[in-house]
Amino acid sequence: MAYRLHAAGKTINPDSCFLRFPDRPNSRIIALPAHIAGPIHKSGIKWISSFPDNNASNLARASAVLILNDGATGYPIACIEASLISATRTAASAALAAERLSPDPFEGTIAVIGTGMIARASLQWLLFRGWHFSSVDVFDVDRHGSEQFSNWLSSTYALKATIHDRMDDAVVDSSLILFTTTTLEPYVNDEGLFDHHPTVLHLSLRDICPNVILASQNIVDDVDHCLKARTSVHLAEIETGHRDFVAGTLVDVLENRCELAHDKARIFSPFGLGVLDLAVGDLVLEAARSCGDAVAFPDFFSNSARW
Ligand SMILES: NC(=O)c1ccc[n+]([C@@H]2O[C@H](COP(=O)([O-])OP(=O)(O)OC[C@H]3O[C@@H](n4cnc5c(N)ncnc54)[C@H](O)[C@@H]3O)[C@@H](O)[C@H]2O)c1
Repeated sequence: MAYRLHAAGKTINPDSCFLRFPDRPNSRIIALPAHIAGPIHKSGIKWISSFPDNNASNLARASAVLILNDGATGYPIACIEASLISATRTAASAALAAERLSPDPFEGTIAVIGTGMIARASLQWLLFRGWHFSSVDVFDVDRHGSEQFSNWLSSTYALKATIHDRMDDAVVDSSLILFTTTTLEPYVNDEGLFDHHPTVLHLSLRDICPNVILASQNIVDDVDHCLKARTSVHLAEIETGHRDFVAGTLVDVLENRCELAHDKARIFSPFGLGVLDLAVGDLVLEAARSCGDAVAFPDFFSNSARW
């Protein structure tokens, strides 16, 4: 629903604001303000940190809060832990894209490149949606990360993963490829790697080099958002000077306005829209209220009466 409201112009989703640190170039905190009209009718902002060095001390890379604002008064009405909301909306949107972009959805082989939290959430969603994988091939620059992912997969789903020492070996036979790394510079430059025309969920946005992007069919969540911040599709735009290589958005695919290519890889690059966090955050708030888990602070706005 959030994607459709966004496509129908019933959302406001300004550019994300990146706080970067010159002495820690791999880290950042991003603010994603958004408004969503229609039945949700809320505004809000997700404030999400990415500190990849946390992983070394077994602390999750991403941490986040979501502030929800009432659509009528503008008052903040909730402050919610949002790293799970963020991971869930990312994984759910990836699963939706996988279903709609794959010629034979719900079956095949999967490669997971970068085996962290988002990879885990995405696998959970794919399996929840009913996918059956005849093989799971994984690669992570940190082999220990692959081993932890593989142990989780086998203990939770009785699925066996094959751990590879090279990314190429993991993707070569996979019909569905998930990129969930933290790389900042693209490194997938061999167009031949996608000769078998896989569906590629490029969630980490900066793994695939412009030549491979240009040789593939590209679907994004929002064209203006995704072609920014030196994502792979942004680099392809800088290189070519145009955006003609973007075939459409996920909503175009959902509404059959975009014909899928079967003679090349189909790459889904979602920038990750703040309106998705609002929509999922709103569900979480309603669920917390109805089961009594929401904690109220009745006097938080003690000076709200104007006179
Ligand atoms: N598009 C979206 O909407 C969206 C939303 C949330 C997160 N993300 C992105 O997903 C990515 C993964 O997030 P996470 O929370 O799982 O991070 P994480 O730190 O838990 O896991 C990332 C893993 O990638 C591995 N890695 C780094 N570079 C690699 C490379 N070149 N090849 C293989 N493995 C590599 C790391 O060792 C680590 O295990 C991040 O880039 C994040 O920004 C995207």
